Amino acid sequence: MPSVHISVTVRPLTISDLATCAWSGGPGHLDAVADALRAPDFDYLAVCPEASGLPVAIGGVNFAPRPGAGEITQLGVHPALQSCGLGTILITALEDRVTARGLTVAELGVETTNPRARALYERLGYRAFDTVRTGWDRRTEDGTVYRYETDCVEMRKHLTSASPGT
Ligand SMILES: CC(C)(COP(=O)(O)OP(=O)(O)OC[C@H]1O[C@@H](n2cnc3c(N)ncnc32)[C@H](O)[C@@H]1OP(=O)(O)O)[C@@H](O)C(=O)NCCC(=O)NCCS
Repeated sequence: MPSVHISVTVRPLTISDLATCAWSGGPGHLDAVADALRAPDFDYLAVCPEASGLPVAIGGVNFAPRPGAGEITQLGVHPALQSCGLGTILITALEDRVTARGLTVAELGVETTNPRARALYERLGYRAFDTVRTGWDRRTEDGTVYRYETDCVEMRKHLTSASPGT
């Protein structure tokens, strides 16, 4: 089968990138990303092919909600490029942001309905420590806002040192 090698860079996501990130979520998702970009305790990164510079994987680490830990959140890889290793590159770079702040713990939540994502996090060293009922506002295509509720497995990883190369 034909194959191509794509070089990627990891850089901060910016507001002007959002016009090219509609693939990353449903209606309202980019509003939440924009809020995160404006938040003081949020580092947001984008993985971009060197050739285009356009984000194909985005996600952030929020330092506000969990004292002593960075919360990795809003992870998304372009649907056409999932299972190629981009999510692993992104998560590793976000973990480096956590250690750069002098913290040694990264945490994340994954819905119980998302076993493939959970399997990836386990492969990367995250361990479940709780399951919580949680929820957030979602918007439909016609602008209706509703409360989405779900069960999330809380996972934690102890980071030993910054990964080389980022
Ligand atoms: C979860 C996700 C961020 C992982 O990024 P990725 O680039 O696909 O991951 P990698 O290529 O580094 O690793 C591959 C593993 O990721 C997981 N994965 C791959 N595609 C996935 C998908 N569509 N949904 C959920 N998990 C997926 C699997 O564990 C996969 O391993 P497998 O191919 O052996 O099943 C990405 O798949 C994605 O954006 N999924 C949809 C949105 C999502 O579930 N976000 C996470 C919410 S907590």
